[in-house]
Amino acid sequence: MTERCDLLITNIHAATMDPSIAGGYGAVEDAAVAVTGGRIVWLGPRRELPDTAADRTLDGEGQWLTPGLIDCHTHLVYGGHRAGEFARRLGGESYEDVARAGGGILSTVRATRAASAEQLYRGAEPRLRALMSEGATTIEVKSGYGLELDTELKQLSTARRLAQHHPVDIVTTCLAAHALPPEYDGRADEYIDLVCEQILPAVAREQLADAVDMFCEKIAFSVEQCQRVIDAAKKLDLPVKVHAEQLARTGATAMAAKSSALSADHIEYITDEDVALMADSGTVAVLLPGAFYTLKETRVPPVEKLRAAGVSMALSTDLNPGSCPIASLRLMMNMGCNLFGLTPAEALAGVTRSAARALGLCCSRGVLRPGLRADMALWPMDTPDQLAYELGALQPAQVFLGGRDVTAG
Ligand code: NIG
Ligand code: FE
Repeated sequence: MTERCDLLITNIHAATMDPSIAGGYGAVEDAAVAVTGGRIVWLGPRRELPDTAADRTLDGEGQWLTPGLIDCHTHLVYGGHRAGEFARRLGGESYEDVARAGGGILSTVRATRAASAEQLYRGAEPRLRALMSEGATTIEVKSGYGLELDTELKQLSTARRLAQHHPVDIVTTCLAAHALPPEYDGRADEYIDLVCEQILPAVAREQLADAVDMFCEKIAFSVEQCQRVIDAAKKLDLPVKVHAEQLARTGATAMAAKSSALSADHIEYITDEDVALMADSGTVAVLLPGAFYTLKETRVPPVEKLRAAGVSMALSTDLNPGSCPIASLRLMMNMGCNLFGLTPAEALAGVTRSAARALGLCCSRGVLRPGLRADMALWPMDTPDQLAYELGALQPAQVFLGGRDVTAG
């Protein structure tokens, strides 16, 4: 009997990223993929394709099909920029010096509070488009430059509005515990009360956040304060993520793992014990080589130990105006290999399968497999190793979001 589908792509090689298929890319050469109702319904070697009639058939011309890319950690909705701070850091001041002098995150907080929702939207759009032009189909966006209820809501609703007007999935995270707002100077515990008792409940009520994040660091909040944020998030049924161990060992990753956090992000300073805890809890290690590069850090995350322990490693831009004003997930793949020692296949897993896990979305995306969303990118390349290797010229030929052709251009 002839099967029917909405879209049939033949004459492709598929880097499925399915770990049940041997080889780092889960490659199926000379493949075909069938899509119906936005989901993959069949994928396999072309010679095994059952008799299929399709509303639309596409000849992939021998190109490689990958899952749509996923950027699982961005701060892409913000006001202003920090080019002046970049110059100061080039002159020798550290990220921490700038933050302690009232610059850094707090300077973006001032600009974000002052911006209208429309200005935030217009500022974020080119950054979103840049990520989408590289084949990103799911992008996480954090708040955290408001540090007061209205501005946190303004950032999160701007992220939701971006998703309504662009063919991309946006997942939102409330990062109200990002820095201490100036009006709470010397009263960090009281600000955490505000986050737990007012900001998070309001954000949850308005359904504006899919998760809760926090910055656990000497220049931000302590483990005890972050634990309170985690407890509040759990009461609201929201999963948690933690900015952990970027600048020093704090115990944040252990806290994240013990709280079954979706991810611990940055993690340059984690210990062997932290790695073991992450392996036990399934907490994803989100590696952010762009922030490491921009801040000229020297301590790399323990990739070999994470790999040996079987911890999933995601890669993300951390796109933000301070520590990574770089809207390129492909550059992060390259940096993940060159700076952190990932293999090109691990880099692709980092922006697909593992990034989906870091967002709690691995049941729906991140791998090309029947039953999952048909979020896919088709690349004119001979081998998927080129994705981490070749920047600038190599662009996706076609991008599909839920089976819909959303190719930019
Ligand atoms: O992930 N670490 C805290 N947040 C961002 C930086 C934000 C900023 O500098 O504006 C990060 O690196
Ligand atoms: Fe971040």
